[in-house]
Amino acid sequence: MTSRAPERGQRHDVSRTSKRTSAGTQADLQQEPESLDACRRCTLWRDATHAVPGAGSSHATLMLVGEQPGDSEDRVGLPFVGPAGVLLDTVLEEAGVARKTVYVTNAVKHFKWELRGKRRLHKTPGQREVEACAYWLDRELAQVKPKVVVALGATALRAVLHDPSARLNAHMEHPARIGELVVVATWHPSYVLRASSSEAREAARAQMVDALRHAHSLAASR
Ligand code: URA
Repeated sequence: MTSRAPERGQRHDVSRTSKRTSAGTQADLQQEPESLDACRRCTLWRDATHAVPGAGSSHATLMLVGEQPGDSEDRVGLPFVGPAGVLLDTVLEEAGVARKTVYVTNAVKHFKWELRGKRRLHKTPGQREVEACAYWLDRELAQVKPKVVVALGATALRAVLHDPSARLNAHMEHPARIGELVVVATWHPSYVLRASSSEAREAARAQMVDALRHAHSLAASR
């Protein structure tokens, strides 16, 4: 008996699929899809409206990497256009970085979510999904060839460094290097939006501004 594939954007009942985790199988990781829309390296595409590729200057010296698209990005198909993107835009402006000069992408290109009532709530991608999507991130790095990458949050940092144990706090103090590439780590904009007090929010926001300013000047001087 054959089962019909669920329509894109419909919830898929993974519990009925044997020997397949929600992140996909080992064989899926061997696939080398030609396009992001055709990507089946993990199973997140099933519940997503759009795959969300990176956007921005293809010759940018500065690349920003987030975690994964959110609800708005999933609907529109562009990175950082929702509330986290609005915060990111204000931080970039304060740091003196024009968004059109940078390349913005995510570690994972499909929105991972769970339904709560009528809302699609963000779920943090698992290591297998990050690993599956490193295929696309590595391609973007090879094509754009930035001098500096800003990792926005721990998932982005681990994806860029290919190190699942990398600690955000440690790298916020000490940028990493991969050959010539410098990796500056800072908070994810959603962390700033969710901060428990206005003081904590302001402090995290100021750290983001400093990190972006620093990354921008490093990219200009290299
Ligand atoms: N959060 C991210 O990490 N990336 C987006 O594109 C939007 C929200």
